[in-house]
Formats: sequence, C-alpha cells, structure tokens
Amino acid sequence: MNSITQMTQRTLSTLQTQGTKPKVVAAIPCLNEEQFISDIVTRARRYVDNVIVVDDGSTDNTSAITKGKDKLKRRKKVENTQAANCKAPTILITGGCGFIGINVAKYLYSKGYKIRILDNLSVGKKEKLTSAGLPPSAVELVIGDVRDRDTVERAVCNIKAVVHLAAHTSVVESLGNPEETWHINVTGTLNLLEFCRLKGVQTFIFASSNAVLGEQAAPVDETKIPKPISPYGASKLAGEALCTAYYHSFALNTVSLRFANCYGPYSENKPMVITKFINWARQDKPLIIYGNGSQTRDFTHVGDVCQSIYLCLAAVDSVAGEIFQIGSGVETSINKLAEIIQEIMGKKLPIINKPKRRGEIERNYSNITKARKILGFEPKINLKTGLEELCELFKLKT
Ligand SMILES: NC(=O)c1ccc[n+]([C@@H]2O[C@H](COP(=O)([O-])OP(=O)(O)OC[C@H]3O[C@@H](n4cnc5c(N)ncnc54)[C@H](O)[C@@H]3O)[C@@H](O)[C@H]2O)c1
Repeated sequence: MNSITQMTQRTLSTLQTQGTKPKVVAAIPCLNEEQFISDIVTRARRYVDNVIVVDDGSTDNTSAITKGKDKLKRRKKVENTQAANCKAPTILITGGCGFIGINVAKYLYSKGYKIRILDNLSVGKKEKLTSAGLPPSAVELVIGDVRDRDTVERAVCNIKAVVHLAAHTSVVESLGNPEETWHINVTGTLNLLEFCRLKGVQTFIFASSNAVLGEQAAPVDETKIPKPISPYGASKLAGEALCTAYYHSFALNTVSLRFANCYGPYSENKPMVITKFINWARQDKPLIIYGNGSQTRDFTHVGDVCQSIYLCLAAVDSVAGEIFQIGSGVETSINKLAEIIQEIMGKKLPIINKPKRRGEIERNYSNITKARKILGFEPKINLKTGLEELCELFKLKT
C-alpha cells in the first residue's frame, strides 16, 4: 500500500470512529497519480456512499477511468486500468503447469503481469507452457514441491501475489491416501502463507473447491456450513481456515475461491466427465453414465475461473478475508451434458448406465450472487459455446 492510499484510509477511518461519516469523498489527483486513484477509490468506497474523482485528465488516463454513468462499469474500468498500469508485478502461480494453472498463467500474462510458476511436475507438464503460447522469457519456472520450505521461500521472493493452485486434486485418490493429500494441500498451503507473511507478500488467492461443503441442498452458497465428505474436501476446508486466520492475524490479503467443476483448454488428460465424453464420442464409443444421469453439476469454463482470480487481484483490498463460490450458476444434468456433446459432434451414441458411485452427490451447483455483487464476477462463456470450442481443440490435438 503506498503512502497516499494509507493516508486516505487512515483519514476516513478516523472520521468514522469520531462519528463523522462523510457521504461523499472527492479525490483530487495531482501529477499523474492515475495508478493510485483506483486503489483510493476502492478503499474509500468502504467508508462512504460515493467517491468522486476530480481531474481534467489532461496528462494521464484518470478521466477515462472514471467517466461513465454506470457505477459498476466505472469500477470495472478502474480495476482493469489498475492492473494495466502497475509496473508489471510478478505473480507466483503454484501448480501453474496444471490445467487451471496454464490458463491462469496465459490470462494474467495477457493482462501485463510477470509470471513465476512453482510446480513439482507430478501432474503438470512444462512443455504445455510453450504450446500454450507463453514465451519462455515470459515465465520463470521453479520446479519444486510446496511441501519443501526452502523451495517455497525461494519462490515467494520479490512477488506481489500468490495464486495457490498446486494441490492433490483427486477426490478418489484422497480416499486412498488421506495423509499425502493433507501434507500437499494443508502443509503446502501453510508453507506458502508463512513465507508470504515473512517476505511481506500482500496477496494470496487460494483455490478452494465446492468439495468443502459436502452433501448439501442445492444450490450451495457461502452461508452453508461446510461438512466435507472426502479427505480432499477436508484438506481444502483446512486451507480456507488457514487463509482467514492469516488475514485476521497477520493482515495478509487472502481470498478463497470455491471453484465448481471446471472445464476448458489444457484439460485433455484430466479424468473429468466432459473430457471422457468428448474422447469417447470422438472414437464412436458408448457414453458411460453412473446412475440414471439425473445428477447435476455446475460446469464452469476455465476462462471464467481466470476472470474471478483476476478480479480478486485487482480489487483485493475490498475482498480480503472473503470466501466466494465461483461457478456458472447453472445446473446441468449429466444426461443433458451427454446430449449437448452428441449434438455438437453430430453423433447419436449408445448410453451405458452403470450403478451409481458411492459418495456421489445428487445435485450440485453454485449460487454465485456474492461473487456477482462484491467481486463484479460475471460468467461469460456458456456451456454450449465452451464445449464447441473444446471439441474443436481436442480434434486439433489428437
Ligand atoms: N479442475 C477443477 O474442476 C477444480 C475444481 C475445484 C477446485 N480445483 C482446485 O484448483 C486447483 C487447480 O486444479 P487443476 O484442475 O488445475 O489441477 P491439476 O492437477 O491439473 O494441476 C495441479 C498442479 O499442481 C502441481 N502439483 C501437485 N502437487 C504439487 C506439489 N506438492 N508441489 C508443487 N506442485 C504440485 C501438479 O504438477 C499440477 O501441475 C487445485 O487446487 C484444485 O483443487 C479444481
């Protein structure tokens, strides 16, 4: 936080403790303070109803970022400009060679951030970074394990924020090896938080999951009491708890994002229903469905997951300490998914129904109202469009 934003926050909070609550605050930048204005606006909004920026915009972009009738639009513009103008801060993406990681690296690189990745390559492949169009000069790769404190200490040096994705991600495997899941997902998260604290890193975005909630009436939201039903879900809940603890104890700006079922580019090796259906359909094989196919999920395009991470980075001061459900907000049954994929591929395939798997949740989708309101998150890629794009990509890859 720079001294101008610190001063703004201190003044407003003093006024508030004195019982004077200003309704409107005017920010008057001088000498090209464009990059501070967005931060000041974000902070001031916590204390007042409205913020007016007074500026002629003659020598910088401040007038452009604050113009417009719609408050929300204006806020988004401010946030975008903030990221574009910061002097290329480095973001550490753990698990950056995995499915979501590669997409996040591409997305944040396109927004002007420098990228450092920490990955032990147990699942991820470093070659994918180049095939994803990320030039080697754009990404610094630290090959190592989040359980290793020395590696983590090295990885968090001179960075602005961490996007923590590295994890043992399989629910089924977590049942076979709960201890390893715990070490990677919880001890690994603790190592990162601890070195962020020690090295003065300001921001920590944690990839959580709907799995923390367990069996709940749909749709799920942040008010439900988490009751994980797998070691994987329990480890993610522990990660969320560490994040809120580090926010309150050490003022580290943490945000936990509970992703729903994610799909999209670079997922071809993931054992997910969408990947399986597309691969079977391409080979004219029957589609296997466990149970009668009426079970529902919230299929979320990875581009929208990237958007949510970017919004957190850009407005972290107003969302620190929070937990958000991130999904499409749309409930889709497995039968419907099979129908859409067959329609896209122009094929009618036999369906084989196998017995329902133990522990499978019947209905699961996210209520994303909180993310919409506070984060300005809006899913942009609907399932049909995302699947059409994915089927094309899979065709090109094999
Ligand atoms: N994909 C989804 O649908 C989904 C849904 C909810 C939450 N999430 C969470 O999002 C994150 C990313 O998921 P993904 O689908 O990209 O998973 P992924 O398995 O494709 O990627 C995980 C990456 O972490 C790396 N990794 C694993 N253990 C490591 C360790 N000990 N040290 C360093 N690196 C390690 C792997 O090599 C891999 O590159 C995970 O935290 C996952 O739990 C994913």
